[in-house]
Amino acid sequence: PKVALRSGNATPMPAVGMGTASFPLVPEATKNAVLAAIEVGYRHFDTASMYGTEKPLGEAVAEAVRRGLLQSREELFVTSKLWCTQNHPDLVLPSLRETLKNLQMEYLDLYLIHWPVSIKPMPITSRNKKEDAVPFDVEGVWRAMEECQRLGLAKAIGVSNFTTRHLDKLLAVATIPPAVNQVELNPAWQQRTLRAYCAEKGIHVAAYSPLGGQNWDGTGRNAVLESDALAGIAKARGKTVAQVALRWIYEQGVTSIVKSYNKERLKQNLEIFDWELTDEDQLKISQIPQKKIFEASDMFSQEGEFRSVDPADLDIV
Ligand code: A2P
Repeated sequence: PKVALRSGNATPMPAVGMGTASFPLVPEATKNAVLAAIEVGYRHFDTASMYGTEKPLGEAVAEAVRRGLLQSREELFVTSKLWCTQNHPDLVLPSLRETLKNLQMEYLDLYLIHWPVSIKPMPITSRNKKEDAVPFDVEGVWRAMEECQRLGLAKAIGVSNFTTRHLDKLLAVATIPPAVNQVELNPAWQQRTLRAYCAEKGIHVAAYSPLGGQNWDGTGRNAVLESDALAGIAKARGKTVAQVALRWIYEQGVTSIVKSYNKERLKQNLEIFDWELTDEDQLKISQIPQKKIFEASDMFSQEGEFRSVDPADLDIV
C-alpha cells in the first residue's frame, strides 16, 4: 500500500520503508541488504547524510537496475536528510546536491530536516555536542528547502524529530507546508498528541525505530521486541512481535521506516498487509507503558528550546 503526500508533485509513499541507519557503518553490508530488500519487494528507502549510507544505497540501486531487478530508479521512493551542521540557509541546496551525487540520483522523493537543531558548519559526525549548537533559522532554512522542491530536486520536503511546538513555528512561516514529520514512534512511544496535531495539519507521520531501535539508550533492553503485551498478541495471531508492532503502526496510518539487514527479517517485516489486529489487541497496545528511547541527550538539551521530548507527548494514555 502507498500513502498520498500533500505536495504538488509528490511520489506516493509505500507504507513500509527500509531504514539504513546502521552503526557502526559497514558500506558493503548496506549495499547487500538494500539489494536483498529490493529482491523481496521493498520500494521505499530511507537514508541521511549523517548515516554515511547514501553511497552504498545509490550503488545498490544502480546495480539493481543493471541486473534488471528494477527498470529504473523511478520505481523507488527515496528519502534523505539534511544534517544539523548543514542546517543553515546557504548550505541546504549544496547539501542536497552532495546527497544526490552520493546517491547517483537526479532527485529525491523526500528531503527532510533531520533535527530542529542547528550546529555550526563542520564535517558531518554524530558526535556533535550541544555546545556547538547555534540558533536555528527555521524560516531561512525552510525557504531553502522550498527552493529544493521548486527546482525539482526533491519532490516533497518535510522534517524529522519536530515536536508540535517546532511545527507551530514552521507552519507560521512556510509557503509549502511540510509533507512529512519522521519521528520515533512505536507501541512503546505512541506519540498520540503529535499524531493528532499532524492529522489536523495534513502532515503525514513516518515512524523511525518502529521496533524499538538499535539499543539507542544503551540498556540492552528493547521495550517493543520484549513487550509481554505484544508477545501475547503475536502468539494469538500466529505472527511475530515485530509484525504486530508494524501492523499496529500501519493501522494508525503511519509509515514504518524499519531497519533490518537480514533477508528473512526484511521479508517478514513486509508481511503485515493481509491480516488485522482486533479491538481487544488495540486496547492492550494502548495500555503499554510509554517511554521515549532516543534522547540524543549529548546533543539536545532537555531543558532548552529544542528539547526532543515535547511534554505534551508524555501525557498520552
Ligand atoms: P537486524 O538488522 O539484525 O534484523 P528499528 O527498525 O526499530 O530501528 O529496529 C531495528 C532492529 O530490530 C535492528 O537491530 C534489527 O536487526 C532488528 N529487527 C528488524 N526486524 C526484526 C524482526 N522481524 N524481528 C526481530 N528483530 C528485528
